Amino acid sequence: MPDADKSSQVDSKNYAVDIPMKTSGFFLKGSSHLNWGMKNRLARIFNPESGRTVMLAFDHGYIMGPTTGLERIDLVVPPLIPHVNCLMCTRGALRSCISPEVDKPIVMRCSTGATVLKDLSNEVIGVTLEEALALNAAAVTAQACIGAEFEKESLINLSYLINEGARVGMPVLGVTAVGKEMVRDARYLGLACRVIAELGVHFVKTYYCESGFEEVVAGCPVPVVIAGGKKLPESEALVMAYKAVDQGALGVDMGRNIFGADDPVAMAQAVGAVVHKNEKPKNAFELYNDLKKK
Ligand code: 5RP
Repeated sequence: MPDADKSSQVDSKNYAVDIPMKTSGFFLKGSSHLNWGMKNRLARIFNPESGRTVMLAFDHGYIMGPTTGLERIDLVVPPLIPHVNCLMCTRGALRSCISPEVDKPIVMRCSTGATVLKDLSNEVIGVTLEEALALNAAAVTAQACIGAEFEKESLINLSYLINEGARVGMPVLGVTAVGKEMVRDARYLGLACRVIAELGVHFVKTYYCESGFEEVVAGCPVPVVIAGGKKLPESEALVMAYKAVDQGALGVDMGRNIFGADDPVAMAQAVGAVVHKNEKPKNAFELYNDLKKK
């Protein structure tokens, strides 16, 4: 118990009356009116200095099984952790392969119910908010399959996360999954991003598109990060990351183009230089090659 404050004289206290208390804003697009817990979690995912993030996605196994480059999560992911801002994964991968001493925020994949052997849009929610909280997640995620057969169900999944997340201050990342029958153009991606932002997700993961990406980002009132997609040559993946942040994305949520690189640790650092320091792709590729030699 603290000692009682024996000073009854107001003038022995210092209220610094000449210094007005700062009313701070919040650095993330569309997030100013969220509550403290949401903001605190988002400020762990996005670096408040650069306003951006490098998320490492390694949730592929939940639909694809042992994905190329990710056959051994326990060997591949830990060396990458110091070089990224955030980890996006399933609870199974987290519990079995990631040390609880890790100090990076976790974005928890909560949807399930489909694999590459069947219709990927036919998902349900498999992880409750209580479980995500118990695992100390900083955000939860599921995908929206706009235009796919189970579009409605995928939006119900996201709604569940948004509604339950609102009770406990947990932000939701909405992923715009693009089915084989869809075209990854600005019209489609712009529609998908906007639909889930209006539904209430706190940030959006989508794909980069060569034409009109700036409009996709402008039409989405919350932060957008890009997925890496299929493995590209390292130089091309760095160009894509550069163009995306240059056109308004607030970072990447990249998997195969990091863990599938010739040198994943060097690639994570090169992507970080692009995202946080606006490094030009040519310089970032030189950095990649220098780090790779070491
Ligand atoms: C698809 C996903 C993936 O599982 C994964 O996160 C994608 O990462 P990348 O395309 O960079 O390998 O979210 O909905």
